[in-house]
Amino acid sequence: SIAELFGIDASSAQYSSNETAISVTWQPSSTSGVSYQLTCKRVGSGEVWNASSSTPSGTCGSLQSGQAYELRVAVQKAGFDDVITRLSNQLTKLFGIDASSAQHSSNETAISVTWQPSSTSGVSYQLTCKRVGSGEVSTASSATPSATCGSLQSGQEYEL
Ligand SMILES: *[C@@H]1O[C@H](CO)[C@@H](O)[C@H](O)[C@H]1NC(C)=O
Ligand SMILES: *[C@@H]1O[C@H](CO)[C@@H](O)[C@H](O)[C@H]1NC(C)=O
Ligand SMILES: *[C@@H]1O[C@H](CO)[C@@H](O)[C@H](O)[C@H]1NC(C)=O
Repeated sequence: SIAELFGIDASSAQYSSNETAISVTWQPSSTSGVSYQLTCKRVGSGEVWNASSSTPSGTCGSLQSGQAYELRVAVQKAGFDDVITRLSNQLTKLFGIDASSAQHSSNETAISVTWQPSSTSGVSYQLTCKRVGSGEVSTASSATPSATCGSLQSGQEYEL
């Protein structure tokens, strides 16, 4: 009998990313005992990141904000040629915001913050105000680059 090494199904891939990393999970190969190598190649420069794993997931880290990456997954098993599956054509990482652009104002019960928008369009923002010491958290979501945490305690310190 001839064993076969099965690749992965690109449509099963789920992506998440933050400013510096892209994480991908996918349905495992139908072949047992395989390992996976996720490769993130920066479009243009050709710079490559690899992440190897025995589980069907990987994270490429230390990436540049706002750059596009091509992703692929190689299924590997000793004695077989790698089976490579290309994932989404391109994944453009989100741009974060510039912390130095943030402007704060506050009164007895609320902290308002505005910041320069992300260079990525169509994003939304979530402001989190965490009370120092207690860890109590207040969040505010917004489609515009500003938000207000309300119902706060006077005289307390908050991390934003
Ligand atoms: C981005 O995600 C990576 C991988 O999950 C994590 O290690 C890193 O701390 C995250 N960075 C930020 C700024 O959230
Ligand atoms: C990534 O993996 C590929 C294929 O296995 C290899 O040719 C390349 O040298 C690796 N690159 C890095 C930066 O590890
Ligand atoms: C404090 O600021 C919040 C948000 O701008 C506002 O809704 C609230 O009325 C203000 N409270 C006082 C006491 O000025």
